[in-house]
Amino acid sequence: MAAGRAPGWAVGFLSAGFLLLRFDFISCESQRIFGAMNGNITFNTTSFMPFKEILWKKGKDKIIEWEENSEAKPFPPFIGRVHLDSTSGHLTIFNLKPQDEDEYEIESPSVQDNTKFVLNVIEPLPSPTLNCTETNESIRVQCIIPGFYRSHVNLTEYSWDCSPPQCINCSSDPSEVCVNKEEYLSEKIQCNISNPLFKRTASIALATCVPGDNSRYRYGLVAIPITIIILVFLFIIGRQKYIKK
Ligand SMILES: *[C@@H]1O[C@H](CO)[C@@H](O)[C@H](O)[C@H]1NC(C)=O
Ligand SMILES: *[C@@H]1O[C@H](CO)[C@@H](O)[C@H](O)[C@H]1NC(C)=O
Ligand SMILES: *[C@@H]1O[C@H](CO)[C@@H](O)[C@H](O)[C@H]1NC(C)=O
Ligand SMILES: *[C@@H]1O[C@H](CO)[C@@H](O)[C@H](O)[C@H]1NC(C)=O
Ligand SMILES: *[C@@H]1O[C@H](CO)[C@@H](O)[C@H](O)[C@H]1NC(C)=O
Ligand SMILES: *[C@@H]1O[C@H](CO)[C@@H](O)[C@H](O)[C@H]1NC(C)=O
Ligand SMILES: *[C@@H]1O[C@H](CO)[C@@H](O)[C@H](O)[C@H]1NC(C)=O
Repeated sequence: MAAGRAPGWAVGFLSAGFLLLRFDFISCESQRIFGAMNGNITFNTTSFMPFKEILWKKGKDKIIEWEENSEAKPFPPFIGRVHLDSTSGHLTIFNLKPQDEDEYEIESPSVQDNTKFVLNVIEPLPSPTLNCTETNESIRVQCIIPGFYRSHVNLTEYSWDCSPPQCINCSSDPSEVCVNKEEYLSEKIQCNISNPLFKRTASIALATCVPGDNSRYRYGLVAIPITIIILVFLFIIGRQKYIKK
């Protein structure tokens, strides 16, 4: 019996240890938060009992401090730019600046699981431009983010409204695709760029990628309206003759 119990004990002990480890892991976890430049962000928190005191910190610096039955005291450079909800413990920062990027943390005896927040402040994405170059049988299209944009370029993802067989990867660079020249020259392709907060789109008519050699397509574009005009003209003349009869 005793021998039968021992493994049970051991398992219980081990899982308690495992839970402790897991808890430890969770309480050290940091959450990445994205805020828009000049926008606002709220750090949320969960407490297991009503707050009596709260301190929010950015790195090692105090942002705002509050004790029961007194006013919250903000510190520079956050004076006039923060709001603390002393009931929920939530901290809101207004008018975000690049210098606000840091680790944020609440300190209070009412909070057990004090997750750290890692704030990234992102500038709005500009519209990309599409550039194309003619190669042997295909057209290489590049989706270019204007050079002045340096705000977390690594977070930018590219996607194309264009899939095989029309488009193939010409390299491992997701900002470019290759299009089969002969079959698809009359079409448009679209590049979407996005990051966790913003999304922009640009498109290009592939015919504009082939200077000079697009007479066929230009002819096509001009010929259609002319044909329609002639047909309408013929129809009107025909109708008038019919009415006269
Ligand atoms: C940020 O908060 C201020 C004050 O509440 C508000 O006027 C402003 O519209 C908010 N800005 C954004 C981007 O939500
Ligand atoms: C905090 O909660 C508010 C409302 O519940 C939500 O709008 C906001 O996105 C949350 N903030 C974060 C950083 O998750
Ligand atoms: C477009 O591509 C051509 C050829 O690769 C290059 O010379 C030109 O500078 C590019 N334009 C832009 C805006 O990058
Ligand atoms: C064009 O095709 C030729 C022969 O197939 C090849 O040698 C050359 O590298 C190709 N050029 C480009 C830019 O793909
Ligand atoms: C982008 O990511 C690469 C590797 O993932 C890293 O080496 C580089 O420093 C990052 N650049 C920026 C601006 O964060
Ligand atoms: C690109 O953006 C457009 C417009 O927002 C959307 O309709 C389309 O589904 C997007 N395509 C991809 C591949 O994300
Ligand atoms: C092209 O590359 C992207 C990522 O770089 C990948 O998601 C996609 O599946 C690739 N497409 C093809 C046809 O290889």
